[in-house]
Amino acid sequence: MFSSNCWVTTALAAVGLAFIGYRVLTLLKTLLELYVLKGISLKKFGAGQGAWAVITGATDGIGKEFAAQLAKHKLNVLLVSRTQSKLDAVAQQLIDEHHVEVKTFALDFTVGNDADFQRLGQVINGLNVGVLVNNVGTNHEIPTPFAEEDEKLINDIVEVNIKGALKMTRLVLPHMREKRSGLILNLGSFAGLVPTPYLSVYSAGKAFLSTWSQAIGKELAKDGIVVEHLNTYFVVSAMSKVRRPTLAIPLVKPYVSSALSKIGLRCGANIPFTSTPYHIHGLMNWAINTIGTNGFWVNQNFAIQTDIRRRALRKREREAAALRKSD
Ligand SMILES: NC(=O)c1ccc[n+]([C@@H]2O[C@H](COP(=O)([O-])OP(=O)(O)OC[C@H]3O[C@@H](n4cnc5c(N)ncnc54)[C@H](OP(=O)(O)O)[C@@H]3O)[C@@H](O)[C@H]2O)c1
Repeated sequence: MFSSNCWVTTALAAVGLAFIGYRVLTLLKTLLELYVLKGISLKKFGAGQGAWAVITGATDGIGKEFAAQLAKHKLNVLLVSRTQSKLDAVAQQLIDEHHVEVKTFALDFTVGNDADFQRLGQVINGLNVGVLVNNVGTNHEIPTPFAEEDEKLINDIVEVNIKGALKMTRLVLPHMREKRSGLILNLGSFAGLVPTPYLSVYSAGKAFLSTWSQAIGKELAKDGIVVEHLNTYFVVSAMSKVRRPTLAIPLVKPYVSSALSKIGLRCGANIPFTSTPYHIHGLMNWAINTIGTNGFWVNQNFAIQTDIRRRALRKREREAAALRKSD
């Protein structure tokens, strides 16, 4: 007969094994989705059949690459961004390289002008929209305490990163619901997964996108619309201020190609309607879900942002000194 001590030890061992077994299973699922399985084909959303993709913030970085790769998959593209000259240059490049139809619409999301969105709505109403990429985003200039942040910049982040996505989605939904098909990709960030001190408004805005994507993802599934929040760590771009790729920080090309090849797979994410498609990001997301507490990761982020802030302030001082010297 087992003593009561033996029973307790056996029960604890069983709980421990179940816990570790569950973690191993989630890792295997993550590896399978990141390295083996293919996501939903873009053909389901009209690629090669005359459908259109609408991409915001399409003249640089990740958005420009989404436009190029969607055009390569034979979707016509409507580019929405701030600067008409940059829109014209990207449009011409896509026409030359991929022979698709391209339209452009210049819109400054910080202005959030109703009349502009109505005009954009009229353009969208004339198109068979299969894909929307809510990519446009803006960030704090440098990590800054909320109490000291510029009022206009706070409002701009809300207008662009949150209200921009809401307004764009409302413009495409009637058509997608009517034809019972569509893909909506929302560009998220690890700053939305783990609260990021000194980037508080950006971080909270990305958390908004995460929660909102999960809510509308569920609502719209019955209409045949796929909503996916793309959880993203750093990517080389003007916004990230990272110029050279590393193992964890890819160029836009491999990042976007992973996003488009893993539609519908969570990869490293453990929340619905969310994917962390880039392989190293996926593994990092799995680690964050598995190791440490939220408090631990917030402390890590605080330490990282404090260091970035210190270096950014020093750089500003150096630049100001150089300017004074040249006067
Ligand atoms: N890069 C990263 O490490 C990273 C990580 C996580 C998430 N993300 C997210 O990915 C998205 C794209 O980031 P990115 O790094 O590719 O940015 P980026 O290189 O700075 O490009 C931003 C694009 O958005 C446009 N844009 C900016 N403000 C605008 C406004 N007010 N109105 C209209 N268009 C505007 C820019 O147009 P102009 O060319 O005219 O300026 C440009 O085309 C963002 O949502 C960002 O939060 C990025």
